[in-house]
Amino acid sequence: MKGIILAGGKGTRLYPTTIAVSKQLLPVYDKPLIYYPLSVLLLAKIRDVLVISTPEDTPNYQKLLGDGSRIGMHICYKVQETPRGLADAFILGEEFISGDCVCLVLGDNVFYGQNFGELLASAQAQIDEGGAAIFGYPVANPKEFGVVEFSQEYKVLSIEEKPQKPKSNFAVPGLYFYDNNVVAIAKKVKPSARGEIEITAVNNMYLEQNRLSVTLLGRGMAWLDTGSPGGMLKASEFVRTVQEMQGFYISCIEELAWRKGFITKTEMRKLGEELQMTDYGQYLIALSNAEVY
Ligand code: DAU
Repeated sequence: MKGIILAGGKGTRLYPTTIAVSKQLLPVYDKPLIYYPLSVLLLAKIRDVLVISTPEDTPNYQKLLGDGSRIGMHICYKVQETPRGLADAFILGEEFISGDCVCLVLGDNVFYGQNFGELLASAQAQIDEGGAAIFGYPVANPKEFGVVEFSQEYKVLSIEEKPQKPKSNFAVPGLYFYDNNVVAIAKKVKPSARGEIEITAVNNMYLEQNRLSVTLLGRGMAWLDTGSPGGMLKASEFVRTVQEMQGFYISCIEELAWRKGFITKTEMRKLGEELQMTDYGQYLIALSNAEVY
């Protein structure tokens, strides 16, 4: 399975902060925002990743992540000239996806929770059989997201993008698994009223074919909103609180690469030593000394 991180867009909701810097490069507490979605792909053991961003920002992602080999991944890049919509990821990524299944994760989505790895593994196993797998997460402000409509028996009836009158409080987070048909399906999507080729249209096409599965995420899962300055601050506070309480880091890509067998402990230690002036680097060194398990 291939992975795509969509890290473009204008970030207008965070202006003036994001006038000169891509939103997904901003820190969530102690690491760039893009480390969080990249960790989702590491957790799912996906090694081949395409990062899509703007013409101005793509070189900065290349500077940050390189070709991925330092963490045992293969990362390549594609420029999106204009933010045409989330479904554009599959059109831009056609050659990269080739004959494979694909997981798309939005560059500004932060996930954290117990058994998340198992949840990802079961979505992957499902997609190996074909179709699409997405998630539903209860939110207080569903109008701002794609929203799932259910029947009384919890059968999915529709997905609506930013509805004025949401039919449930279950939003669709920015994490999507698709079989190889997604490229052909994305090409059929017509721009919406806001002029974007919507991921929600892709999901509805799978739904019409009876090939969409929606897994509801429980209270034990955190899906954090980074859509506003307040959301960014709350996400930072969350990460800091959990890290300080537990002593484990959230979305430390070098740690995940080691735990998933992409790099050795010695390689992880070297990466830690390069950052030894920071708590982040010291954490990696402590991990390699088995001071943290
Ligand atoms: O976060 C989950 C939500 O993401 C879903 O519930 C919605 O169904 C989905 O449409 C999307 O809604 P947003 O309004 O949050 O999408 P936004 O336009 O903010 O784009 C999400 C990220 O993708 C953002 O970091 C910018 C990037 N992006 C966006 C577009 C439209 C791109 O890289 N290229 C694009 O063309």
